[in-house]
Amino acid sequence: MIRETRKVSGMLNGEKLIERPLRWGMVGGGRTGQVGYKHRTGALRDNTTYKLVCGAFDLDAVRGRDFGANIGVDGDRCYPDYKTLITEEAKREDGVEVVSIATPNFTHYEITKACLEAGMHVICEKPLFFTVAECEEIAALAEETGMIIGVTYGFTGHPLVHQMAAMVKKGMLGDIRIVDLQYTHGFNAGDDADASEAQKWRTNPATSGPTFVLGDIGTHLYYLSEIVLPHMKITRLMCDRHSFIKSRAPLEDNAYVLSHYDSGAVGRLWVSSVNAGSMASQRYRLVGSKASVEWTDTQPNELIYEIQGQPPQILHHGMPYLEEESLQYERMGALHTEGLGDSWSNIYLWIAQAIDAKRRGDEAFLRTHHYPGIKAGTEGVRWLENCVRSADTGSAWVDFQ
Ligand SMILES: NC(=O)c1ccc[n+]([C@@H]2O[C@H](COP(=O)([O-])OP(=O)(O)OC[C@H]3O[C@@H](n4cnc5c(N)ncnc54)[C@H](O)[C@@H]3O)[C@@H](O)[C@H]2O)c1
Repeated sequence: MIRETRKVSGMLNGEKLIERPLRWGMVGGGRTGQVGYKHRTGALRDNTTYKLVCGAFDLDAVRGRDFGANIGVDGDRCYPDYKTLITEEAKREDGVEVVSIATPNFTHYEITKACLEAGMHVICEKPLFFTVAECEEIAALAEETGMIIGVTYGFTGHPLVHQMAAMVKKGMLGDIRIVDLQYTHGFNAGDDADASEAQKWRTNPATSGPTFVLGDIGTHLYYLSEIVLPHMKITRLMCDRHSFIKSRAPLEDNAYVLSHYDSGAVGRLWVSSVNAGSMASQRYRLVGSKASVEWTDTQPNELIYEIQGQPPQILHHGMPYLEEESLQYERMGALHTEGLGDSWSNIYLWIAQAIDAKRRGDEAFLRTHHYPGIKAGTEGVRWLENCVRSADTGSAWVDFQ
């Protein structure tokens, strides 16, 4: 019997929520990749959702095969490149059903397209593609082939993100006036930082796309705001971007974005990889007419809730006083630390449920099921296009298109 997450209160505990584990493969995310292990942490945490059956883990085929074998993948299914993976897996009756793409940005579009054409679902890294036009083309292809696309906005599986969303929906903050977002670190403060492979592709427009930090970390903030404030849309924005390390130009290592929302709210967003010494990472503050909430990914277990005229409160994850929208995604339980791995497990679970529903033809489930999909990926790219259009016209205010 399958437990239905959305109707049952209580902690997620690895019990099966889909018919059977999905046969899963990875492109990229090998020994040298920064993000690959987060994908495996997310997907393999519950052994009821995914089973890793194959991979083209690395640009270096020998290293990729060695890595695959070391994490328990059958050597015959550790492929030298994604094209061989698709060809060989398509021949098998037990071939891969869903492929995660954890490679540099410029490869996302071509690998996604090839997987969809071969009848494989896709879980792709952000920023999804370079242009909205590419996103729309791939959305149409996914529709035509009946495939799901998931996007790994890995921070939005934290239960307290959904507590914020529920509090906004219930009116506990009053009318939202100010949306204050920040994702900054200092890892690229020095000009020698671009020496690493992961940094080289990030600071070259041919491999990173039209942005560096806006796409690399700003898209996480933007998606988080879409989850928490689904009723509010940006109507105009102004972006100022800078390349403090000149060799990174025209790509930015620091940017500010001011936004106007259709509700009358205003927003301020700061992204940076030259915030020297800072380990504060991601901060999200929402100011309403009655109260504010503030959450950071470095303290994901706590949500600061400040009602005007009252002492501030700290809400703790997993506590019964939280909303059901938050408690339903709880894994560790109150008193024990919840973290990024839990968030990724939730993201992967939601995408698995979407794929499972697609396989079963359950369109009614899909209509109400929340997961970061092609629309979320597209909106992230649309936001980037608007930021670049503003920044590259002297930081003019532009209508959001
Ligand atoms: N969601 C997140 O929180 C998060 C975090 C970090 C990175 N990312 C995204 O993940 C992607 C990868 O970033 P990274 O930091 O891991 O990059 P990286 O440079 O550290 O690693 C890339 C990996 O992909 C492999 N690779 C490259 N091209 C390949 C190909 N054609 N076929 C097979 N393997 C290939 C490389 O060998 C390497 O193992 C990027 O799109 C990045 O924006 C997302």
